[in-house]
Amino acid sequence: MTDTYAVMGNPIGHSKSPSIHAHFAEQLGERLTYDAILVELDGFQEAVRTFRARGGLGLSVTVPFKESACALARRLRPRAATAGAANTLWFDNGDGVVADNTDGLGLTTDLVRAFGTEIRGARILMLGAGGAARGALGALLDQEPDSLVIANRTVAKAESLAGLIDGHPEVLGRGFDDLEGFEFDIVINATSASLSGDVPPIAPRIMTGNVWVYDMMYGPTPTAFLAWAERNGARRLADGLGMLVEQAAEAFFLWRGARPETLPVLRRLRDEISR
Ligand code: ATR
Repeated sequence: MTDTYAVMGNPIGHSKSPSIHAHFAEQLGERLTYDAILVELDGFQEAVRTFRARGGLGLSVTVPFKESACALARRLRPRAATAGAANTLWFDNGDGVVADNTDGLGLTTDLVRAFGTEIRGARILMLGAGGAARGALGALLDQEPDSLVIANRTVAKAESLAGLIDGHPEVLGRGFDDLEGFEFDIVINATSASLSGDVPPIAPRIMTGNVWVYDMMYGPTPTAFLAWAERNGARRLADGLGMLVEQAAEAFFLWRGARPETLPVLRRLRDEISR
């Protein structure tokens, strides 16, 4: 039987993961199949059990099941434990379901590549305090930024996420309208606002100067947030397609022990989505 992997989510129709993993497998000469599985909102645990019983080896997990993936795992890798969410599962005969989170590493790898800059010493603003923000937090802090401000529409969520981190660097939770007096080197949009064409209402002045602006969302055209940032003076912009490819490469490595080259796959994917 061919080695079988899949991504589970709801919705799943537009997932690029099957295409990314097919490119990785082709590049490395690995024989595997990778499908997209639409899972009912209350059916994740059962879907994982069925997949495993049919011989599946590993799963990518996307919205809205990342927390459930964490909850059902027998063993959590530290990145998943820190995030309280998992995007990568596999099955270990001794340990049962093992869960990891490769989103944060995907983000930091792509940030460094897209911007050619270091995260170490940077003053970071992260917009959003949901699953995407939580998944990124540990990997960002591992890079030793100068400071990290988490700003969110629901201020209490930003404060409680910031409160999980103690010690250096300084991590603060704020509302979007409470960023007066801060300067930032890197602004990361981890909200899902771009999905509905919305832009978090932060002061346009944050986009001026030497700021690097990253949106975890992506699309065939610049996201609402990136378009807004550019209109307000930001000159260095990147969307989250690279993060998607990088998190997938790390998952592929965890499953197969082989590390794909990501740049050619990112280029192909960029072509595919802009067509
Ligand atoms: P994800 O797993 O994609 O992070 P989530 O956990 O539902 O999804 O979190 C969505 C994030 O986007 C939250 O920070 C949410 O803000 P709230 O905590 O106030 O709900 C943010 N968000 C979603 N739509 C938004 C919008 N239109 N404007 C600003 N923030 C938005």
